[in-house]
Amino acid sequence: MRRAIFPGSFDPLTNGHLDIIRRSAPLFDEMIVAVLDNSEKYPMFSVVERCEMLNDVLPDVDTGGCKLEVASFSGLTADFARESGATAIVRGIRAVSDYEYELRMALMNRRLEPQIETVFLMAGEEYSYVSSTLMKEVFRLGGRVEGLIPALVEERMRTKIPKTS
Ligand code: PNS
Repeated sequence: MRRAIFPGSFDPLTNGHLDIIRRSAPLFDEMIVAVLDNSEKYPMFSVVERCEMLNDVLPDVDTGGCKLEVASFSGLTADFARESGATAIVRGIRAVSDYEYELRMALMNRRLEPQIETVFLMAGEEYSYVSSTLMKEVFRLGGRVEGLIPALVEERMRTKIPKTS
């Protein structure tokens, strides 16, 4: 049984995240999309809302037979991965600029849990500039984000931020 976790903030879920899930799921039997419950940040969506959106959108993702699950966690990703029985942590890399941060996290997680490998996947080129932060900023300022986030997420964002135009 090959089980992985795909940890992140998912505030909100983007099509870039879905692209990584689509690419990585067929490599595993089970994957837990793990939503960080980080009370130090000021998220747009509560952890419950983020999990709800994932649960609404994930059934439409072709996982190649991999069983997807959504869970929230707090504390260390490495601890959550171990407690979940995962042997891999999936992370997406969009551009070289992601690499340094991701490398540091991967090496630290490996030091904490030597049995668990981080698996990097390259995001599709069309999502190489898509981040949750950028999506929130563009949406807030009235820009178009269609095609970059799931329609359902955009609807939920509309209830949080009145667009300026
Ligand atoms: O989607 P993000 O915000 O890029 O995800 C970052 C995340 C959640 C993977 C990272 O912040 C994390 O692992 N946080 C949990 C705390 C932790 O384990 N910190 C040490 C990382 S080596």
